[in-house]
Amino acid sequence: MANIGIYVGSANGITLAVGEQIQEALGEDNCDLFDLEDDYLGFDEMLEYDVLIFGCSTWGSGEVQFNWVEPLQDLANEKPDFSGKTIALFGAGDYVDHGEQFVSALGVLYDKFTGRGANFIAPFPTDGYTYKYSNAVRDGKFVGFPFDQVNEKDKTPERLGRWLEILKADLA
Ligand SMILES: Cc1cc2nc3c(=O)[nH]c(=O)nc-3n(C[C@H](O)[C@H](O)[C@H](O)COP(=O)(O)O)c2cc1C
Repeated sequence: MANIGIYVGSANGITLAVGEQIQEALGEDNCDLFDLEDDYLGFDEMLEYDVLIFGCSTWGSGEVQFNWVEPLQDLANEKPDFSGKTIALFGAGDYVDHGEQFVSALGVLYDKFTGRGANFIAPFPTDGYTYKYSNAVRDGKFVGFPFDQVNEKDKTPERLGRWLEILKADLA
């Protein structure tokens, strides 16, 4: 069985497409990809993976994409133990129309899963990003990999490449 599980909440497929690229970069033998729209079976399945990579775009004003709502409710109700689990985050946002909460959903996931004992890897420098506020920035870095396919599509491949290097180094 693969030891990395990628779980993605994505309304229009933007974050899911990047999830597919991450799976390809890490190797499909090592890495299973789940679209939370159809493939959420609960935490027992998720906890079979040592490494979890969570993708989530930001909606509302700084909120998680809808398909993460049920898992987060289960997390609050069932209180599963994520101690010893390694988590990395990525997600789409829009810094022009929503720069007051740029990719803030990553900060929401970070807080919820930190509270359940998980250890986060692969933060990303804020250099080169423009935004007014982001709940995803902690200690001066994004808690995961943010990208903006609405306004900065051309920058995503280079940013993703850089983040994958950080991710692979943190996993080594
Ligand atoms: C109603 C609405 C609210 C949004 N709210 C935010 C937000 O608070 N922060 C942000 O960075 N992006 C926000 N976005 C932008 C989406 O995250 C962006 O369009 C993203 O590419 C969607 O990716 P997905 O297809 O993976 O869901 C919002 C978009 C819409 C239409």
